[in-house]
Amino acid sequence: MAARALLTRKTLATVLRNDAKPIIGAGIAAATHSRGLHVYTLPDLDYDYGALEPAISGEIMQLHHQKHHQTYITNFNKALEQLQDAVAKKDSSAVVKLQGAIKFNGGGHVNHSIFWKNLAPVREGGGEPPKGSLGWAIDTHFGSFEALVQKVNAEGAALQGSGWVVSCADSEIPSISSILTYP
Ligand SMILES: [Fe+2]
Repeated sequence: MAARALLTRKTLATVLRNDAKPIIGAGIAAATHSRGLHVYTLPDLDYDYGALEPAISGEIMQLHHQKHHQTYITNFNKALEQLQDAVAKKDSSAVVKLQGAIKFNGGGHVNHSIFWKNLAPVREGGGEPPKGSLGWAIDTHFGSFEALVQKVNAEGAALQGSGWVVSCADSEIPSISSILTYP
């Protein structure tokens, strides 16, 4: 699902966590080992599927989590297994061909894992514009939360096909910036 479809002002204000914390690696560590490979698994959500209603329906959340996100994980694991075989066979052509699938599906897994962690039901901190250090960083870099929403929507509208617009802060650099990524 294209994030831009979700990032309307109403949706952001309704479900965005107002106490967002660093989430790099969130959900990505849910891995076990098989044949020496990490096997990535679908991370549990911190809330029920219907907990974000009426901003996002429970049916959409379940479909998005169990079908869409799971498909990226399944295809990522498959590509990694094929990569292991290709490396074992010293098949460099196959290794190169797999890069696209690894990037696309691994990226989809990472993006979705981050996405889930940025949402919260109203009773758990969702529904309010960002406050504290996050709110300060947004105001400082973008001017206001409303300006950030406008920028995200504008950049999302400029993407071809489906994609994600992510605003993030670098833990090494005390600023916040907007980047584009996909799928
Ligand atoms: Fe999705």
